[in-house]
Amino acid sequence: MSEAITTEIKEVAFFGPTGGCALAALKLALESGCRCSALTRRPSHLLTQLSSLPQGTLQNLTITEGTVQTPTAVLETLRSQTNSSLPRKYIISGIGGAPKFGLNPFRPTLDNPHICQEAAEAILSGLRELKGGAAEGEWQQPLLAVISTTGLVPGELPFVMKPLYGMLKIPHEDKVKMEGVVTGAEEGLLKWVVGRAGLLTDGPAGGAVRAGYAGRVRNGSGKWGDVEGVAVGYRISRGDVGRWLFEEVIGQDGGEWVGKRVCLVY
Ligand SMILES: NC(=O)c1ccc[n+]([C@@H]2O[C@H](COP(=O)([O-])OP(=O)(O)OC[C@H]3O[C@@H](n4cnc5c(N)ncnc54)[C@H](OP(=O)(O)O)[C@@H]3O)[C@@H](O)[C@H]2O)c1
Repeated sequence: MSEAITTEIKEVAFFGPTGGCALAALKLALESGCRCSALTRRPSHLLTQLSSLPQGTLQNLTITEGTVQTPTAVLETLRSQTNSSLPRKYIISGIGGAPKFGLNPFRPTLDNPHICQEAAEAILSGLRELKGGAAEGEWQQPLLAVISTTGLVPGELPFVMKPLYGMLKIPHEDKVKMEGVVTGAEEGLLKWVVGRAGLLTDGPAGGAVRAGYAGRVRNGSGKWGDVEGVAVGYRISRGDVGRWLFEEVIGQDGGEWVGKRVCLVY
C-alpha cells in the first residue's frame, strides 16, 4: 500500500496587517498558499494594499474588522479554519502606534502609548479562552511572533544611534512591556519569537539580513557564527522583516529562533 502524502496548509493569523512588516509577511504567505486571517481597523485599505496579488490568492484571506481592544474580533482572527476551537498555528503581530509629537519634539509619544502591550495581552487572552475550551490533550501551542525593536538592552545599538533611540523612551517602554507579556506567558500556552528590528525603512526587500541573539548570529549569507554579543546594525527594511518572518517563522516553524529575542538588521 502506498503511503498517504499529506501537504499541510499553513494557517496564519495576522495582527496589524496594514503595517509594512506584517503586510510583507502576509503577501508572501498568501502567495505561497497559506490560509490567512487578518484583524484590521481598515479592511478596504488592506485590500487596496493587497491589490497587486493575483486575485485567487485572496480567497485564502479572511478579514475581521476591529481593533485589538475588541475581544471577539481578536478571537475570530485567532481561530483555525479547520477546527474553530483551536488557534491558527502561526500568529504574526506587527501592531504599533502612530507617533505623536507634543510640546517636547525630542520626546515623541504614541497615539496609544500602551498599544503593543495591549495587543499582546489581547492575543494571549484569546489564546487562553481557546485553550480553556479545548478538549483534553487537544491543545497545540501556536507560534507567536511579535515585532519589537533593537536598543532595549545595552549592546544592541551602534554608538551613533544611541541619542536617537534615547528619544524613543515612551515607545520603547511599551515594547519592553509587550516582550514581558509574551515571554512571561504560562508554560504550555504558546511558543514565541520576538523579532527586534533595527530602524525600519521602506527600502526594497532582498537585503542580506543578519539575525541573532546573545552569543549566536546568522550572518547575511545564512551561516551561523558564535559571537560575543548580538547582531548589531543600523537598519532593515519592512519588506525584509516580513520576508524573515515568512521564511523563518512560518516556513521553518521558528527553527532556532523559538524562545529567542532576535535582532534583525543589515
Ligand atoms: N519605526 C521604526 O524604526 C521601528 C523600529 C523597530 C520596530 N518598530 C515597530 O515595529 C512594528 C511594526 O512596524 P511597521 O512600520 O511595520 O507597522 P506600523 O506602520 O507601525 O503599523 C502598525 C499596525 O498596527 C495597527 N494598529 C494600531 N493600533 C491598532 C488597534 N488598536 N487595533 C488594531 N490594529 C491596530 C495599524 O492598523 P491601522 O491600519 O488600522 O492603523 C497597523 O496595521 C511596530 O510596533 C513598530 O513600532 C518600528
